[in-house]
Amino acid sequence: MRILVIETSCDDTAAAVVADGTEVRATVVSSQDAIHAAYGGVVPELACRSHVENMRPVLDAALAQAEVALHDIDAIAVTQGPGLVGALLVGVSLAKALAYGLGIPLVTVHHLEGHISAIYLEHATVPCPFVALVVSGGHSDLYYCSQRGHYTVVGRTRDDAAGECFDKVAKMLHLGYPGGPIIDRLAQAGNPKAIHFPRAMLTKNTFDFSFSGVKTAMRTHLLQMPNPQGERLFVDDAFWPLPPASWWEQQRNDILASFQQAVADALVAKTLRAVTETGARAIVVVGGVACNSTLRHDMYHAADALGLPVFFPSPQFCTDNAAMIACAGAYRYYTNPQYYRQQDFLDLDAHANLPLSNVDNSSTVQST
Ligand code: KG4
Ligand code: ZN
Repeated sequence: MRILVIETSCDDTAAAVVADGTEVRATVVSSQDAIHAAYGGVVPELACRSHVENMRPVLDAALAQAEVALHDIDAIAVTQGPGLVGALLVGVSLAKALAYGLGIPLVTVHHLEGHISAIYLEHATVPCPFVALVVSGGHSDLYYCSQRGHYTVVGRTRDDAAGECFDKVAKMLHLGYPGGPIIDRLAQAGNPKAIHFPRAMLTKNTFDFSFSGVKTAMRTHLLQMPNPQGERLFVDDAFWPLPPASWWEQQRNDILASFQQAVADALVAKTLRAVTETGARAIVVVGGVACNSTLRHDMYHAADALGLPVFFPSPQFCTDNAAMIACAGAYRYYTNPQYYRQQDFLDLDAHANLPLSNVDNSSTVQST
């Protein structure tokens, strides 16, 4: 069975063709990073307009890469939410039109179930129950998965998402967008112990995260930091005067490595606590921030000490992509094909806010 998938929840226009649930025949992602870079973050209106322009070429590229035509496709899957509603609508409208025109089923997918399902693209099975850490530009959530398709939220960020925090810190330092990969690269040459940034709520009896504190601590640190002449390094969030590169680059890398370590420590500690207290048998880490080298290293190390397996998707399936949505959509379709064959989908809508508990639209796959 071949599924054609469309994902437009944020600023990436993505399409994929996946056969038999996990065999990725094509995956195409058109990034809008260059458009949003000037603003240091995603501008929703620009994202929606770009999806309209990019969607058709991305769709055509996916079909060409998979060497199939539209009439070879057996079902359409699309991200229904959560995300930017105008962006989601571009994908949902196209998916409905394609499914209606071709007379084939339409499977709607929750974006976060897509991220979690990315793990099954490269691993046939994951021991259940597992704890999934979903860390991206929009989310920092912990889910307990009793079995595939059954999710219970156990923790989430109370303010910024981890990826958002990376992006905002990169913006403060005028590094570019998206900040995560840039900080990750520069931090390799820094000392993670140079500055102590706060690890919020580590001692509190909760699985929730908070990243606004480390972001504010970073800003305070920068505004108080002297340059080599003893003058203030930053005034009104801009360099004043611009320090010599030889001096600044090491300072900057130390700051970034220390920041990255603070974020990773919080993510690892809460995940480990959730695993220990729920008795889960494995850890799954997904979403754009799952690319982070410190997080990957420290999570493996910490889990190894407990004898637990850790599963990360490869980087191309951590950041937004349509193959992960296909994997989730195919699973839902296979577990209840009758539901999707009979579904009248023409009044389906996109949802900016869609709890993972609201996706139980088939009788066999449920979430709480
Ligand atoms: O999953 P994703 O592509 O989109 C959302 O669903 O949000 O995640 C994008 C986020 C951005 O905030 C980006 O800065 C972050 O993932 N990211 C990283 C790394 N690569 C991407 N954060 C830390 N380290 C990385 N290597
Ligand atoms: Zn995402």
